[in-house]
Amino acid sequence: MEFSIKTGSPEKLKSACAVVGVFQARELSASALAVDKATRGSLSAIVKQGDFEGKAGTTLLVSRVEGKVFERILLVGLGPAGEFREKAYREAVRAAVSALRQTGASDALLCLTEVPVGGRSQAWAITQAVVVAMETLYRFDQMKSQPERNEPALRSISLKVGARTNVDAEAALAQGVATAQGMNFARDLANLPPNICHPTYLAAQAAALAKSHRLKLEVLDQKDMERLGMGALLAVARGSRQPPKLISLSWNGGGRKSAPVVLIGKGITFDTGGISMKSAPEMDEMKFDMAGGASVLGTMKAVAMLRLPINVVGVVAAAENMPGGNATRPGDIVTTMSGQTVEILNTDAEGRLVLCDAMTWCERHQPAVVIDIATLTGACVIALGHVASGLYANNETVAREVQQAGDAAWDRVWHMPLWDDYQEQLKSNFADFANIGGRPAGSVTAACYLARFARKYPWAHLDIAGTAWKSGRDKGATGRPVPLLVEFLVGRARSAPPA
Ligand code: BES
Ligand code: MN
Ligand code: ZN
Repeated sequence: MEFSIKTGSPEKLKSACAVVGVFQARELSASALAVDKATRGSLSAIVKQGDFEGKAGTTLLVSRVEGKVFERILLVGLGPAGEFREKAYREAVRAAVSALRQTGASDALLCLTEVPVGGRSQAWAITQAVVVAMETLYRFDQMKSQPERNEPALRSISLKVGARTNVDAEAALAQGVATAQGMNFARDLANLPPNICHPTYLAAQAAALAKSHRLKLEVLDQKDMERLGMGALLAVARGSRQPPKLISLSWNGGGRKSAPVVLIGKGITFDTGGISMKSAPEMDEMKFDMAGGASVLGTMKAVAMLRLPINVVGVVAAAENMPGGNATRPGDIVTTMSGQTVEILNTDAEGRLVLCDAMTWCERHQPAVVIDIATLTGACVIALGHVASGLYANNETVAREVQQAGDAAWDRVWHMPLWDDYQEQLKSNFADFANIGGRPAGSVTAACYLARFARKYPWAHLDIAGTAWKSGRDKGATGRPVPLLVEFLVGRARSAPPA
């Protein structure tokens, strides 16, 4: 899909389909009024006849239009004018794009970007429109034997903006496109079946990305991990025939001496639970347990596309958690790369085990900040559902920065406590500490475990167990939190000294 910015009055912009908003109670938006005027009152006539109410999520395609400017007009319901905020805007764009997809129009002029969204800038509306449009158009059909027959005609979408705030609009568009490409990449990887997408496959995908986007690649294999003393990561991989990989991609857009942002993603390509095995229902969804790692790779793609003037290292700790004759047992004690010993009381708490060694390994970069991203706990889904990701941090400034990036990208997080009081739950009688902390506050104690490996740098942890994928009819990866991470890094780039 091609995206571009258009200015000027809509009746002067030729298009196969003009997309305009109508508020509930039949109130035409400004661009709808302009189009109405250019088409001799065709829209006000429709509304007057009672054929379109402007209810949120509704659309009406007008396929025979007066005049020669537009072949079609798509009316999009915006809901009540007083309630037109972020959620309603995104829903309007989603409804518009899914309706456009069913038409024969090869290009469209999206005027929804002109409708003011309370408290948000024009730039925000542009980035969001691109991201939501691409999200709506996304399909995962690479595993189907027959490709879909009705390929959409839609090739390009122009985003209509009022006055030319040139630089801003183009930058917002670029951020939207890069974010969407990063999300698509992450979604594809996460949606792939676990028999194809194993650690070695992820490493190969990272290598291909490194080649096409000028990133530096490093992959550690099992021998390297043994040499480095990564006892926790290795303990997870033991039960699998698939060898683990620690994948690292670097983008060096900043000065030689500027400390990098390090992103670390959980890359469990399938989580059976190991010897502490999960039950059968929905176990297939544990192929998404590498979604954190996929979001890191997707974000690295976006960073390279945007050529951000900062240094970023993206790490994926990839392994498969399987039972087997060689698998780790509950009660096993391992020594992590940090030297701390861990009693593995539950082999299903494997995410923290692969992450902790990656967190120690990345100390070599002397990071400005480390953010780990993980589908870490079912408890986080119980706490926050599928709306917000859980945010934990050992530094208040970083917590605020991540929270604000999530808010700006509408990829929201909720700041959870990381108080020492919770650390007691990890007590072990036999090792330095255990890998589980019991039922209460399961998402918090998982973060507490990770905090013990983040003593050397400012750190934030995102528990994306509830936000990385959808279940049920729309089962599939969401691409979150790529929008948050890209926004965070764009923010860092804005305040970075020129390289
Ligand atoms: N990958 C799971 C977490 C998960 C479960 C994410 C369900 C999304 C949906 C993780 O490895 C896990 O199994 N966590 C355990 C931890 C427990 C044993 C302390 C959990 O949440 O049950
Ligand atoms: Mn698990
Ligand atoms: Zn897991």
